[in-house]
Amino acid sequence: MNADALDKKRVIAIDTQNTSLVLMANNKGFVFHKYYGERQATPENLLDVIPFDKMRMETFEALSVFGGEYPGEPSLKATHADGNMTTDLRYQSHTQTKIDDNIVETRIRLKDTYYPFFVTLVYRAYQAEDIITSQVFIENKEDGAVVLENFASFDLVTEGREYWLTHFHGAWANEMQMEEEKLGKGIKIIDSKKGVRTTQAENPSFMLSLGQPAEEEQGTVIGGALAWSGNYRLCFELDSLNILHMNAGMNPFGSAYHVESGKTFETPRFTFTYSANGKGPVTRRFHRWARRYSLRDGDMPRPVVLNSWEGAYFTFDEDTLTKMMTHAAGLGVEMFVLDDGWFGNKYPRNNDKAGLGDWQVNKKKLPRGIDYLIDHAEKEGIKFGIWVEPEMVNPKSELAENHPDWIVQRPHRELLEMRHQLLLDLSNPAVQDFVFKVVDDLLVKHPRIAYIKWDANRHVQNFGSPYLPADRQSHLWIDYTRGLYSVYGRLMAKHPKVIFQACSSGGGRVDFGALAYHHEFCASDNTDAFSRIFLQWGTSHFYPAMAMGAHVSGSPNHQTGNSSPLKLRFDVAMSGRLGVELQPADMTGEEMEYSKKCIAEYKRIRDVVQLGDLYRLVSPYKEDRSALMYVTPEKNRAVVFAYSTRYHSRQDHPTVKLHGLEPDREYKVKELNSTSKSKLFNGNGKTFSGNFLMNNGVQLKIRKANESVVLELTEVK
Ligand code: DGJ
Repeated sequence: MNADALDKKRVIAIDTQNTSLVLMANNKGFVFHKYYGERQATPENLLDVIPFDKMRMETFEALSVFGGEYPGEPSLKATHADGNMTTDLRYQSHTQTKIDDNIVETRIRLKDTYYPFFVTLVYRAYQAEDIITSQVFIENKEDGAVVLENFASFDLVTEGREYWLTHFHGAWANEMQMEEEKLGKGIKIIDSKKGVRTTQAENPSFMLSLGQPAEEEQGTVIGGALAWSGNYRLCFELDSLNILHMNAGMNPFGSAYHVESGKTFETPRFTFTYSANGKGPVTRRFHRWARRYSLRDGDMPRPVVLNSWEGAYFTFDEDTLTKMMTHAAGLGVEMFVLDDGWFGNKYPRNNDKAGLGDWQVNKKKLPRGIDYLIDHAEKEGIKFGIWVEPEMVNPKSELAENHPDWIVQRPHRELLEMRHQLLLDLSNPAVQDFVFKVVDDLLVKHPRIAYIKWDANRHVQNFGSPYLPADRQSHLWIDYTRGLYSVYGRLMAKHPKVIFQACSSGGGRVDFGALAYHHEFCASDNTDAFSRIFLQWGTSHFYPAMAMGAHVSGSPNHQTGNSSPLKLRFDVAMSGRLGVELQPADMTGEEMEYSKKCIAEYKRIRDVVQLGDLYRLVSPYKEDRSALMYVTPEKNRAVVFAYSTRYHSRQDHPTVKLHGLEPDREYKVKELNSTSKSKLFNGNGKTFSGNFLMNNGVQLKIRKANESVVLELTEVK
């Protein structure tokens, strides 16, 4: 079709209940961004009021391509079969289809002006959640392979006076540290080139505040997150006209991808939303959307877990574990998870130096096998879960001896080890089958295993695949993750009832790509309550509490050395998916009793925390205190958590204004987890109006470092 034949402007409005993303095709067939903001009933009228001069139009392409008008960082760059490096995409058609009562899918089909090369932009609009997802499908019908060098999933152009970018950086045991910066001219890139464990140092998510630094409940904010566990790139380019071009997707770094003739290349899903009322609504929409669409069994409250890692590490036998289970059951824990160290015989896994890859039960430590442990767990009335790290191998293992060609490796060079281990080449279907079988065998042989903790403790080095041909080595980055997702998908289909946790040296796989196959994630190996106040604050921006593993561990903390009261440890962990990670036998009777009480309280409020709406009240980044609360969708119950991070004067009576309640309703306030010594809220047991609680607030006696308070609010009718 001759695109120039299009003689009228086309407006494509992608609406949710409260937002509109408006694109348009001009008479030459170019498709442009026109508007993203509050919902517009008459989007076609925007054409007349939003200036659309030639200068600007060039830079507002819906998908910027190399070879087109936009001279900046392109979303798509392709070398065609004949070597032509430019692409010129024009509108062909579009459809809007109601997938169900909540989802409308818009597909915009573009075609190159010369080549049989097609690009389809696919947007899904989730009405109730005000969320839009975007994906790009690139179809090659040319005579030979097309090589893709840029392949973003998301492209958006916006104008604002100032742009404030919030993103989440980190390191091992220090993930999801929030940082906000004003964007200057040029390019800001947030990316990962690690292939695996990609969210340890940065997260593929951002909030962009227009005009001013982001506030919780006011201001214009666009939030987005990429669903991809491999290399990613979020690119923010502020051009000379002060227009911001964003694109996000798989990282093109070293990843030139050949799309054979007749094949379609699919990019991962990018999820975004627009809020005129600050970051809070972005978070709440993401959480609601994630629970409904992007997390396994997002309506099912998660069990309280005891994980054996910090309580036993590699040193245990049957007796250690059965006693731990008995104690766990006594505390009210619902799931016991046996961590690393249970496997390997020729090379026993007694530390991290050997045995990884040899997934047979270690006969010395566990002579009666896994079923003996499950029998014990069930006798105690709790469920049993187990740790695996099936993508990895210790060189000192039978697996490495038998399948050296399954290992990701750089030819002619020494292999770089990390935690004494190497990575299996998941681009290889035989390796995918092996990884599937490791977990499948466990679950088939032991059908009572109710939980799998899937770990991945190194990133890609030694770049090179013994499986991929020489001229397709650059496919490894993408094919690894696709291979991993294929294994996850097969396991999920075959074992739909088993709970899966995504762990990767702690928080190395906290992204919506991995989460689609999991119920939860390990937020960090750092279990220290003080550190967690910050880490969980950052994590909460996109990832829902029900999925965020938060464990009470021993004091002093094994990672940071900080000592903290058991109350603080519970008060912090109870704001996520509560778990315990210590040796209960080391606790005093008093500590056991207190823990039992907290766990019982958690079970009572768990639906509010795990399924409620989050309101962040006081940021630990701005004050030496922090507060947040969860409110049920019906607004009849709420739970408030507040923490003090340093000593304040004795005269200090901080008042925290609550949010998200109904002003005209009455709420009874009860302090939870109080110790015999501390009552930190004077109004305990009294009833207050939502109005009072939100406008006046609650006065909390948290003046010393490490003091904390939890309040439960229940509507009184
Ligand atoms: C890293 C994880 O984050 C820990 O929880 C633990 O499972 C260790 N790996 C075991 O090796």
